[in-house]
Amino acid sequence: MKGIILAGGNGTRLYPLTLAVSKQILPIYDKPMLYYPLSVLMRAGIQEILVISTPRDLPAFQSLLGSGEQFGVSFSYAEQSEPEGLAQAFIIGRSFIGNDSVAMVLGDNIFFGEGLAELTQAAAAQMQGAAVFAYRVEDPERYGVVTFDPCNGKAISIEEKPKVPQSEWAVTGLYFYDNDVVDIAADIRPSARGELEITDVNNAYLRNGTLRVYQLGRGYAWLDTGTTESLHDAASFVRTVERRQGVQIACPEEIGLEMGWVTPDVLLSQADQLGNTDYASYLRRRVAEITATGALRLH
Ligand code: DAU
Repeated sequence: MKGIILAGGNGTRLYPLTLAVSKQILPIYDKPMLYYPLSVLMRAGIQEILVISTPRDLPAFQSLLGSGEQFGVSFSYAEQSEPEGLAQAFIIGRSFIGNDSVAMVLGDNIFFGEGLAELTQAAAAQMQGAAVFAYRVEDPERYGVVTFDPCNGKAISIEEKPKVPQSEWAVTGLYFYDNDVVDIAADIRPSARGELEITDVNNAYLRNGTLRVYQLGRGYAWLDTGTTESLHDAASFVRTVERRQGVQIACPEEIGLEMGWVTPDVLLSQADQLGNTDYASYLRRRVAEITATGALRLH
């Protein structure tokens, strides 16, 4: 399965923060925002990843992420000249996707929760149809909203930013599709707001009975980064958990090591490049722990 991180858009709602840099490169506490969705794809087992961003911001992502070998993944890059909708990612990414299935994550979506790796690995292993993840929110009218049949719990409709939402379940920015998505995205037309809507893609799968909707329950966090307030809240959340537990959330080097994609040497040379920082100390600490115990994963 291939992966796409969509990290374009103009970030106008965060001006002046984003006048000169991409929203998805802003810090969430101790690392760039994009590391969080990247980690979700990596934990799902995905190594070939296309990063899509604006002509202005793509060079910054290239210098941040490079080839990907430091994380044990391989990055490709593509421009989206105008933010014409999330579904355009599959048009831009058509040749990258080839005949494979594909997962897409929005570059500003932050997920946290025990069991997410297993859930996404299951979604990735099921190659037929599509899988999306729903999360209960206070303000569903800002999102794609999924309604479930009360009798059998199956999704019956998805509406994009409904004025009167039929449920509190928002569709998050993490999507798994079989290869049909390439043709489905090519066929959809811009919505009333002028965008190629991901909700139209999901509804195409819903109509032919191949959309699976996983509900992320209250043990998960799906954090908003749309306003300066919510950015601050997300950073506080990460800081609180990291300082309390002494572990990193969304450290791609650590995930690469745990997945068996890089050797401890790669982390040590990455730590050397990152200088005298807490992040570098963490990489060294994890290598020492793994060498001492032989256990790759922290619990
Ligand atoms: O976050 C989940 C929501 O994302 C879903 O519930 C909605 O169904 C989906 O439409 C989308 O909602 P928004 O329309 O509010 O997304 P927004 O325009 O904020 O774009 C999401 C991110 O994707 C943002 O960081 C900018 C980036 N983006 C957006 C567009 C439209 C692109 O990179 N290219 C684009 O063309």
